[in-house]
Amino acid sequence: MVTGATGTHLSDHAHIVVTGGAGFIGSAFARRYIANHPGARVTVIDKLTYAGNLANLAPVWENPRFRFVQADIGDDVAITPVVASAHAVVNFAAESHVDRSLTDPDVFVRTNVLGTNVLLRAARAAGVERFVHVSTDEVYGHVATGAATEETPPKPRNPYSASKAGAELLAFSYFTNFGLPVIVTRGSNTIGPYQYPEKATPLFVTNAIDHLPLPVYGQGTAIRDYLYVDDHAAAIDLILHRGVAGEAYNVGSEDALNTVELAHAILGRLDRPQSLVQFVADRPGHDLRYSLDSTKLRALGWRREYDLEATLDATVKWYEANEDWWRPIKSGAFREYYRRQYGDAFASATAARGTS
Ligand code: NAD
Ligand code: TYD
Repeated sequence: MVTGATGTHLSDHAHIVVTGGAGFIGSAFARRYIANHPGARVTVIDKLTYAGNLANLAPVWENPRFRFVQADIGDDVAITPVVASAHAVVNFAAESHVDRSLTDPDVFVRTNVLGTNVLLRAARAAGVERFVHVSTDEVYGHVATGAATEETPPKPRNPYSASKAGAELLAFSYFTNFGLPVIVTRGSNTIGPYQYPEKATPLFVTNAIDHLPLPVYGQGTAIRDYLYVDDHAAAIDLILHRGVAGEAYNVGSEDALNTVELAHAILGRLDRPQSLVQFVADRPGHDLRYSLDSTKLRALGWRREYDLEATLDATVKWYEANEDWWRPIKSGAFREYYRRQYGDAFASATAARGTS
């Protein structure tokens, strides 16, 4: 049943389909939803790309209210029957790393745009009560001054953010034309447990644990808002229940750091020398500043639990305590990626110091 533009009445026993739920933020959302909504059922649909990891779902795997389906969101034959029984869909599934989008844009268009379209079509056929499309602050592009509000026009500048902006616009078109109750969230840089170590923060933390150099792009002046993953998941839960269909919501910590400051904060927490910061070639088209105004989300009642210090503390501690999660990742296909991304010299320096 399609609801109107305001209010949602998702029952306590709703069936929520979470796509991309074996990834970083999607798994945090799935774990949270099972824990905080005792009658709800959660089905995770995930293709299990390099970024998907069933270990992220271990805490809920045995729960009778949890189900996992391995499928590509672009495969309508596989996903339509799963979505058919859903009351709501939360779409996290995406190719999510900017650097990879610079070397292989095609898969970003396939999953982020075409895949989202297949999912929207299935959700429309099912008549879901909510379709939350998880997007990113990167759709606003470089924000030179001030902070982007939900009314700021999208100006994405790399294939990742362009594909995310395309997906959002498509999602809104299903609201405008077909009445699908779509809500879009635009989160800022999210960090915390279970983040694939290609992203700056887990890469820096795990390198620092091993006394390895931290590759900082350009002069390290690029500014991001850093948000703890549980706060991001809580925001999406709130928006799913209280957000208004047809609207977008920024999800930002409003706690900015540049990359050198991020690296120093991590090295300090691990008692490693600041000399481990190593400046490397900049990312082409690097967005040098993101900044979000999250007033609209706060008006729904969202308050983050983790300030910047707590966010960094919890993140660093988790990687220190969970080497069995990240070491196998960093020793697999990741090494080839690392060599391609950072160059032979940097990767060899890393290998010489003993990652295996
Ligand atoms: P992630 O890369 O950790 O996880 C993505 C998940 O999607 C993986 O489990 C992967 O297997 C799955 N997936 C990829 N292609 C798929 C396909 N075709 N079909 C089904 N599953 C597929 O990403 P993340 O960091 O958890 O990001 C989740 C969402 O949040 C993305 O949409 C991303 O754009 C958005 N986002 C991320 C951040 C951030 O800082 N990480 C910030 C704002 C928004
Ligand atoms: P990242 O985690 O890739 O997120 P995004 O680019 O999507 O914001 O990067 C965060 C910031 O850190 C960004 O300005 C790019 C920079 N960065 C580095 O300096 N070195 C790295 O090795 C990576 C992966 C990122």
